[in-house]
Amino acid sequence: MTASAQNVIVLGTQWGDEGKGKIVDLLTEQADAVVRFQGGHNAGHTLIINGEKTVLHLVPSGILRQGVQCLIGNGVVIEPESLLNEIAKLNQAGVSIGQRLRISRAAPVIMPYHILLDQLREKARGGDPIGTTGRGIGPAYEDKVARRGLRMGDLLDPLRLQKLLKTVLEYHNFVIEHYHKAQPLDFDTVYQQAIQWGQQLADNITDVTEELHQLNDAGKAILLEGAQGSLLDIDHGTYPYVTSSNTTAGNAATGTGLGPTDLDYVLGITKAYTTRVGSGPFPTELFDDNGKLLAERGVEFGATTGRPRRCGWLDLVALRRANQINGVTGLCITKLDVLDAFDEIKLCTGYVDNNGQPMPFPMSTSAWKAVKPQYISVPGWKTETRGITRWQDLPEKARDFIHTIEQHTGRPAHIISTGPDRNENIIRHNPFGA
Ligand code: GDP
Ligand code: IMO
Ligand code: MG
Repeated sequence: MTASAQNVIVLGTQWGDEGKGKIVDLLTEQADAVVRFQGGHNAGHTLIINGEKTVLHLVPSGILRQGVQCLIGNGVVIEPESLLNEIAKLNQAGVSIGQRLRISRAAPVIMPYHILLDQLREKARGGDPIGTTGRGIGPAYEDKVARRGLRMGDLLDPLRLQKLLKTVLEYHNFVIEHYHKAQPLDFDTVYQQAIQWGQQLADNITDVTEELHQLNDAGKAILLEGAQGSLLDIDHGTYPYVTSSNTTAGNAATGTGLGPTDLDYVLGITKAYTTRVGSGPFPTELFDDNGKLLAERGVEFGATTGRPRRCGWLDLVALRRANQINGVTGLCITKLDVLDAFDEIKLCTGYVDNNGQPMPFPMSTSAWKAVKPQYISVPGWKTETRGITRWQDLPEKARDFIHTIEQHTGRPAHIISTGPDRNENIIRHNPFGA
C-alpha cells in the first residue's frame, strides 16, 4: 500500500465536474492548507455538509474546515469582484475568512475587458463556439503570456496600475471597437474599480510561494486543488475545445511555486460515467434513455452556468491517458450511486476508426470525430449504494465494476464516493495516511 503523503494533488481526469470540491473538502480533515493552482471562477465546486450546499468558484474547498489555511496560487486568474462576492457570501453564512485566505501577488487579474472579449469572441465563432463559461478566462491567460497583463500585486500600486492599464486598455479597446464593433470601455471607470479591489483585498495579497514553503518546511500537509479536468488541459485536452490553463499535475508546481519533488501523491478523480459541459469531442456521449437517466440521477447541471451537462459512459481510454499525463497515484471514483438503477453498464476500452482499425490517441478534432468507441458490458447491481461507507458492504457486482476499472487502468481505486454528502465515501486508502 502507498505510504502516507505530506502534499497531495487532487485533480479531475475527465472534462471537469468530477466531484473535486467534495473530495477536497473530505481530505481537508487531514490537511493544514489547501491551494488552488490554475483556472479561475469558471470552476464550480460543490460541497454538501449535513445536507447544506455550498458552491465555491475561487475560494479553495478547504474553507469550511476551521483553521485550514486557504491559498490562491500564481497560476489562478482572479476576477476580484467575483472573489469579493464569494467572500461576502461565505461571511454571511458564518464562515470566517479574514487572514485565512492568502492570494498570490503574481496571480493575473481578470479585468472587465477580458469578460467582454470572451463573450464577443464566442459570438464571433458563430455556429462553432467553444462553449466557454464567459468569465474572461481565456483572454486573461492570453494577456499573461503576452506580458501585458495586470497581476494582483499591481492593484496595490495606483500609479503603476494607471500606467499599465492605460496601455492595455487602449490595446483591447481597439479590438473591441474596430474588430468586434462593440462599445469600448471607459478608462476611469475601470481604473477606479481596480483601485477599490486593491484596497479591499490588500490584507490578503501576499507571496503565496513563500508561505507555502514555510508550511512545507514545518511539515504541514498541503492539498493542491485542481479545477476543470485533464481533457480540458490547454496542451493535453481536446484542443481547441479546452480551457486556457494547464489543468494537469505539472501545473500544481508551476501554479504555486512548490517544487515538483515537494508533491507526493496525485489523486485522479473520475466519475463512474462521464459528463461534459460546452462543445467538443465526447466519444462515449449518449443520446438515448441511458443518457437521460444519467443526467437525471446525477443531477447533471453546471455548478457555474447552470447549463445541462452532456452525459455518457466511462471512457477508460481517456482515463488511461489522464493517468499517464498526471502521474496518478490512486483513483477516486465518484457518483457510483448514480449507476444503481442500470441493468447493464458499459465501459469504453478502445477506440477504432470507421474501418474497425484500432486508433492511436486522437490528436486533432477530425481524429476525435472518427473515433468509434469499443465497449465492454458489465451487469448492474440494481441495489442502492448511496451512503455506503465500507467496501465489504458494496454489492459484489459494484466491487467487480471497480475492479474492472482498476484492471484496465493499472491504478488502484483508493476512494469511492457513494453520495454528494461529505460522509458518503468508502476510503480504502487515505492519501494523507490517516
Ligand atoms: P467539481 O467541479 O469537480 O467540484 O464537481 P461539481 O461540484 O461541479 O459537480 C459534482 C456534483 O456531483 C455536485 O453536485 C456534487 O454534490 C455531486 N456529487 C459528488 N460526489 C457525488 C457522489 O458520489 N454521488 C452523487 N450522487 N453526487 C455526487
Ligand atoms: P470545474 O472546476 C466543467 C469548460 C467550459 C468550456 C471550456 C472553456 O467545476 O470542474 P472557459 O470558460 O474555461 O474558457 O471554458 O471549459 N469548463 C468547465 N467544464 N467544469 C469546469 O470547472 C469547467 N471550467 C471550464 O464549459 O467547455
Ligand atoms: Mg464543477
